[in-house]
Amino acid sequence: MAEYDYDVLVIGAGPGGYVAAIRAAQLGLKTACAEGRETLGGTCLNVGCIPSKAMLHASEFFDAAANGEMAEMGVEVKPKLNLDKMHAQRIDAVDGLTKGIEFLFKKNKVDWKKGYATFQDAHTVKVGDETVTAKDIIIATGSSVTPLPGVDVDNDKQVVVDSTGALELATVPKKMVVIGGGVIGLELGSVWRRLGSEVTCIEFLDEILPGLDGDIRKESRKIFKKQGIDFKLGTKVTGVAVKGKTATLTMEPAAGGDTETMDVDCVLVSIGRRPNTDGLGLDAIGLETNKRGQIEIDHDFRTKIDNVWAIGDCVPGPMLAHKAEDEGIACAENIAGETGIVNHEVIPNVVYTLPEIAGVGLTTEEAIEKMGGDKKAIKVGKFPMMANSRAKTNHEPDGFVKVIAEAESDRVLGVWAIASVAGTMIAQAAQAMEFGATSEDIAYTCHAHPTHSEAMKEAAMAVQGKPIHM
Ligand code: FAD
Ligand code: NAI
Repeated sequence: MAEYDYDVLVIGAGPGGYVAAIRAAQLGLKTACAEGRETLGGTCLNVGCIPSKAMLHASEFFDAAANGEMAEMGVEVKPKLNLDKMHAQRIDAVDGLTKGIEFLFKKNKVDWKKGYATFQDAHTVKVGDETVTAKDIIIATGSSVTPLPGVDVDNDKQVVVDSTGALELATVPKKMVVIGGGVIGLELGSVWRRLGSEVTCIEFLDEILPGLDGDIRKESRKIFKKQGIDFKLGTKVTGVAVKGKTATLTMEPAAGGDTETMDVDCVLVSIGRRPNTDGLGLDAIGLETNKRGQIEIDHDFRTKIDNVWAIGDCVPGPMLAHKAEDEGIACAENIAGETGIVNHEVIPNVVYTLPEIAGVGLTTEEAIEKMGGDKKAIKVGKFPMMANSRAKTNHEPDGFVKVIAEAESDRVLGVWAIASVAGTMIAQAAQAMEFGATSEDIAYTCHAHPTHSEAMKEAAMAVQGKPIHM
């Protein structure tokens, strides 16, 4: 009889966990995956990437019809919002995709253990009433919303909500505040702004979208402002009081100063996410989390316990679905004795607003810092979407592409873009960087015309100071 029930047990069936489980099974390992949620797919498929994109996509159509953008192209319509139907198509997308993972589990013979898992020892986990043993265990428990002290989220009441509540609002709030000018605040703030809300974004820092390239952050805010989102930067919310259907926010300058209040119909708390490790029983295996609550791992995704591995949002690094997926694949390959690697220097990052905002590699600020503060050690090429024929024809003039290269070697260090399809465009930059491309390599690659991607080629040409269409 085998020593363990399974070769591999994965805890959590988000994009990190389900992908790890499928790859482990593909590699011939007997695999189970524990998931406490009713459906597979984790945050991403159930309450994250997928439902948010369903609402972003649908609200884009409404906005284009309502704000006259379609009329500009000769399509004159008066849109009528059927919010129930919009929600129904969101639910349908989630339903189809989560069931798809169930199908993939069956196809690859991955056993789904239903319930929340708790370690008993390094090879034994309790899932509900069942005890499951495995030679190797992967922790892929993901993350949850970071709470804001003094602000109680109640998704059922739909007045103070987190991202899950903001996906499901039954009516369009007249006035909405998003606390946090990060990805969730801007994506979901955009959804409700497009559907008719007056949206104000309150951000603690002096600029939105921390972590992105400085130029990109500034330009994005200008575009959002033009679209109708109001910003209060350098401001912290100190409390929210709810009376009936009204929320009263109290805020003050981040640096201290006079208090201000604001009454709104809906508040979205989106100040970040934190790793899920509570109730996992990490102390039973002698594993501690770091100061940020993350599980530390080595280059191979192994924790300090030999047979326990960790991936995705619960480990250090950006909290992104594709990063979790790639780590899942690499981790399973390492367990199977192969060489699984993720290049964490080249993880694209996309904000799915309109225009989209995307980047990969170093920001200008990081590149200069890497060069010891020498600004001349990098070269930057920029090209505006206004000068790109396809973007201009499509009435999408906002944004630019920026290529950052090392001056001496011309090697690309980072690429940033604001463009209607920046999320799709950034894939070529990631691939080029993965192959160690120079800006010249991108500039001399033939790009189809007329495409938005030609702006990437032109930005690469601009690194040498020779763009054609500018
Ligand atoms: P998760 O997806 O969080 O999955 C972890 C799973 O583990 C959960 O289902 C949980 O129930 C389960 N679990 C936890 N503890 C246990 C336990 N003890 N036992 C059993 N199961 C357990 N990222 C992108 O790249 N692109 C996007 O467009 C994007 N949009 C987003 C929009 C929103 C509104 C949100 C909230 C997030 C978004 N993200 C996006 C982030 C993305 O969802 C996460 O980075 C990704 O889901 C992380 O994957 P994961 O597998 O590490 O964890
Ligand atoms: P975030 O980290 O992106 O942004 C949070 C923002 O809130 C920051 O700008 C921060 O300065 C600000 N903030 C923090 N405390 C504050 C306070 N007290 N008052 C006002 N502002 C405050 O976090 P967010 O938007 O909640 O998203 C969580 C994570 O989910 C993202 O970091 C990302 O990893 C993931 N995600 C990814 C998406 C994508 O890839 N398109 C979409 C949505 C989420």
